[in-house]
Amino acid sequence: MPHPDERDVRGLVMVITGASDGIGAIAARRLHERGATVVPVGRSPEKTARVAAELGVEGLTADFSSLAQVRDLAERLRERHDRIDVLANNAGGVFTGGRRITEDGHELTFQVNHLAPYLLTRLLEDRIAAAPGARVVQTASMGNLLGRIRPEHLDGTTGRHLDYGAYCRSKLLNVVFTRGLRAHYATVGIDAVASAFHPGVVTSSFGRDSAIAGVLYRGPARRLFHTPEQGAEPLVRLATRPDGAAIDGRYFHRHRADGPLHRQGRDDALARRVWERSAAMVGLPA
Ligand SMILES: NC(=O)c1ccc[n+]([C@@H]2O[C@H](COP(=O)([O-])OP(=O)(O)OC[C@H]3O[C@@H](n4cnc5c(N)ncnc54)[C@H](OP(=O)(O)O)[C@@H]3O)[C@@H](O)[C@H]2O)c1
Repeated sequence: MPHPDERDVRGLVMVITGASDGIGAIAARRLHERGATVVPVGRSPEKTARVAAELGVEGLTADFSSLAQVRDLAERLRERHDRIDVLANNAGGVFTGGRRITEDGHELTFQVNHLAPYLLTRLLEDRIAAAPGARVVQTASMGNLLGRIRPEHLDGTTGRHLDYGAYCRSKLLNVVFTRGLRAHYATVGIDAVASAFHPGVVTSSFGRDSAIAGVLYRGPARRLFHTPEQGAEPLVRLATRPDGAAIDGRYFHRHRADGPLHRQGRDDALARRVWERSAAMVGLPA
């Protein structure tokens, strides 16, 4: 039986990226326990296979630093599923070591955290449209509040680069994309909702390569932070709460819809511009 105050998700197809570890892996377990048909998507084949085996399902892998792999992932999802009820764009991270350019010619953080999920969401559009009331959920971060989008340097290959600056900007792009996605679905008449959330400061594998995150997340201060179990709660909630319309276009600070919102996160013209530029970068019509 569904939990009280939750919609019945039994049999609903839920694709969760970044499901090989941390927040995504826990969310995959919790939604699977509720009877959803969870498709865990990861980067590492070994880690993804472990989570998939635990759930008794088949996982899929793609490295988002390659848009060809994102296209291939979308194709495999399309072959397997004629509808997608929840797409959780959760994969992401902070990438240290200075500006790195992907094989597609974009700054790595921008591509993994924004452009790849943008492309995946667009390529799955007909499957999302086939599931009335579908949800597309972005795992953003309160780091978005420290970000600043400069449209002239959108893909991060030009302008000043700081690793954490690129991360905060990419998480602001998650919020801006959510707004753009809502407008897009309204324009083309797709019955689906878009939302984004900050999971808390979560002691997952996040920032595993970063000295700063290492001190913060794996030092004594970790007691003050959220566990991956707690970090997954907002994602599970957004996938299961019964009132889809109430979350449409919203950014949640964990469960709170009235948390601080970046000025650029409210800017419809910017959301449109980011949508169009992202579409052009991946060769799709806006
Ligand atoms: N932890 C926090 O404090 C915190 C706070 C705010 C927001 N977030 C966001 O929460 C989301 C989940 O992070 P987490 O805390 O659960 O961290 P995590 O334990 O490091 O999990 C990150 C997931 O993303 C996948 N991933 C990383 N790079 C990828 C790439 N190039 N291509 C495809 N998948 C990739 C990882 O795959 P592998 O297993 O192969 O590495 C893993 O499944 C991220 O978007 C992060 O920005 C986290």
